Amino acid sequence: MLIKVISAFSEPSLQSKLLPIFNSLDIHLIILDYDGLIWERLIRESADLYIVDRNCLPQDERLEAFQQLPEQPDMIVFYDEDEPQLHGNLMGNGIDSFIDLHLSPELILESLQSIITKREHFESERLARMSIQEPRLSDFVSDSHSMKNLLAVAERVVDSDVSILLLGETGVGKERLARALHNDSQRSQGPFVAINCGGLPENLLESELFGHERGAFTGAIRERKGCFELAHKGTIFLDEIGDMPLHLQVKLLRVLQEKKIKRLGGEQELEVDARVLAATNHDLEAEADNGEFRKDLYYRISVITLTLPSLRERIEDVPELVKNYIKIFRYRLNRPVYGLTNDALDLLLNYSWPGNIRELINAIERAMLLCVNETINTDDLALKSDHVMNKISEDPQILSSTEPPNSDLPDQWEHISYHELKTQLLADFDVRYFTSILDSCRGRVGAAAKMAGIQERSLFDKMRKLGLKKEDYRN
Ligand SMILES: Nc1ncnc2c1ncn2[C@@H]1O[C@H](COP(=O)(O)OP(=O)(O)OP(=O)(O)O)[C@@H](O)[C@H]1O
Ligand SMILES: [Mg+2]
Repeated sequence: MLIKVISAFSEPSLQSKLLPIFNSLDIHLIILDYDGLIWERLIRESADLYIVDRNCLPQDERLEAFQQLPEQPDMIVFYDEDEPQLHGNLMGNGIDSFIDLHLSPELILESLQSIITKREHFESERLARMSIQEPRLSDFVSDSHSMKNLLAVAERVVDSDVSILLLGETGVGKERLARALHNDSQRSQGPFVAINCGGLPENLLESELFGHERGAFTGAIRERKGCFELAHKGTIFLDEIGDMPLHLQVKLLRVLQEKKIKRLGGEQELEVDARVLAATNHDLEAEADNGEFRKDLYYRISVITLTLPSLRERIEDVPELVKNYIKIFRYRLNRPVYGLTNDALDLLLNYSWPGNIRELINAIERAMLLCVNETINTDDLALKSDHVMNKISEDPQILSSTEPPNSDLPDQWEHISYHELKTQLLADFDVRYFTSILDSCRGRVGAAAKMAGIQERSLFDKMRKLGLKKEDYRN
């Protein structure tokens, strides 16, 4: 694991003395030139470890900023003379590694090496926690309002046994949240059993859920426990529940009400105590309303509903997510990539992310494989241009167009106020857009929502408001 180190020294002689020692360490080293603003520049850089001499440190409360850095970095301070008061103050601010400049180069190297090894352990543990294995609710830190609200509700219900329905577009983190809810619950010592209700033919899904006895059907040569039994004392995660066939929905409802299952081909009823979490990217409420999903089951599983916002709706979280995933892939792919250019970040912030966090992760991984520098640029990102938003003004075709810019405006537009005109144009746009999209998907709402990159529920809302009926587009 390569540790990123940022270093600065107030005197060139100090730097020349220490550089040979640094060079024998396996680290990614950046040395900043010293000036009066060195402290501000240091903490603006992100690093795992800072190495400085005491003259680079400020005397005042600006020191506190160090403790707030998201990477929780370490700092090593080289000193010339013992200054107990200064050391005390530094320790109070989270800086607790000091190396005496009078030590021999061998001892300095040894001290540095031991601090770096400790940091490597810290990073691997952090990495293991950040990657998919064991997410916790506290890993979902976010600057977005919708996410903060969702997490506040999640925290309140995590310890109860109520069923929770997780909604949201593909790739927003429904499964990750389900795992975090389990890991933070009182059932965390028990099993977490996930089953994809959309991926299996009906009879197989039934035996996966409830198990079967020997001889229950051709091929059932041994008895088999189902997911409910396996999840006893833990959590069962019914993923893609919107795809569950109606007939099985009836059986599932019975199990949820009675907390007992009967294996296929079995007589005996077995008690199961499993907390139920379910997820879907369908608009389950609308489907329950129009008979495509059982209403009673919908009510049963949606005691609490958590709708994860799309990445577009929490675009402010992109920089932090990118930073974390660059770090994860730096270690996983062993590529010395440490950041991205401002243009690349701009592009990520102006992209509509139809595949949400999953797409972002893939984009970063691909970019890190393609990247030839230490910094990812826009070309490395290779994002589909049709999902890039706010690009109109930069489109050369539009800029060189000979049409007057107001050719799309209605007659007499000069006499309508800006807000009125905007509302009118947007309403026209909505009608044109949703009519075309329903038309090209032949009235299939799921497909149309996917194409538009919005939730089915939002599309149903739009259609209701605009008076569009899916039947009219089925040809
Ligand atoms: N807050 C987050 N921070 C970091 N990574 C995340 C976060 N949320 C989701 N991910 C990652 O994004 C990817 C997609 O998440 P997940 O599989 O949970 O999505 P999903 O909503 O279940 O998608 P689908 O509907 O397609 O099944 C996973 O690799 C997951 O680890
Ligand atoms: Mg999923």
